[in-house]
Amino acid sequence: MVDPRTTIINTRLKQIGRIIAVSSGKGGVGKSLVATTLALTLSRTGCKVGLFDLDFTSPSTHLLLGVKDAQPKEDKGIVPPQVNGLEYMSLIYYSHDHAAPLRGVDTSNALIELLAVTQWGKLDFLVIDMPPGIGDAVLDLVRLVKRIEFLIVSTPSQLAFETVRKQVSLLQSLKVPIIGVVENMKMTQASTVKRETEKLGLKFLTEIPYDPKVEESIGDEKKLLETAPAQKIRQLVAAKAL
Ligand SMILES: Nc1ncnc2c1ncn2[C@@H]1O[C@H](COP(=O)(O)OP(=O)(O)OP(=O)(O)O)[C@@H](O)[C@H]1O
Ligand SMILES: [Mg+2]
Repeated sequence: MVDPRTTIINTRLKQIGRIIAVSSGKGGVGKSLVATTLALTLSRTGCKVGLFDLDFTSPSTHLLLGVKDAQPKEDKGIVPPQVNGLEYMSLIYYSHDHAAPLRGVDTSNALIELLAVTQWGKLDFLVIDMPPGIGDAVLDLVRLVKRIEFLIVSTPSQLAFETVRKQVSLLQSLKVPIIGVVENMKMTQASTVKRETEKLGLKFLTEIPYDPKVEESIGDEKKLLETAPAQKIRQLVAAKAL
């Protein structure tokens, strides 16, 4: 039997212009930083933007944004609160500071449930911060969200890029659009990731330097938007490269 929630999900997302999943086969490469900064940057250009933290086991975007007392409203579903100008949704509203140790099927159920109940309304962009890896969350999103597009984050390391290669191959075989690859935490001039990205037939979006100021900017939107990653993302958005 078809899960009726899958139909509801696409109805719920109907008024959203673009749905961008920020993803990587590897952990710790900067997905949450890129997703948060991208959402804030797009919203500063006058767009209406949602940010959805789908990393249920180790959510981070609320820390980057400095979310304090926000809570969603219940009204024929759940209406995300406004946080720093974004419609912001995360499991932390329900799990608070506790761990949410979910097994595979429970993670899928939580993801389906949140997608089915969240009332985003009209948005220009919904940015999704994905958990690391090419597992359940990626497969669920691809299966459930018709218009999903992926923005992939790598580091300069070949270890990270190898997982990117696998993820790209999976997404291409499923015919899911890939916006391109961002190389994050760059510390040298090496151009391997750019070259290898282009060999895969993908757009190399930008390289983001490692910036020690990121750490002291966590929780402070204004400082975050002054970091090198934010500057690079601003250029990307201004160039309409997404
Ligand atoms: N360009 C950068 N310069 C400096 N620090 C960075 C940069 N990008 C990310 N970081 C830092 O690196 C760490 C990992 O980043 P982040 O949490 O965004 O990665 P992630 O890919 O979302 O990790 P996870 O797989 O655990 O979700 C964080 O402490 C973040 O602040
Ligand atoms: Mg993360």
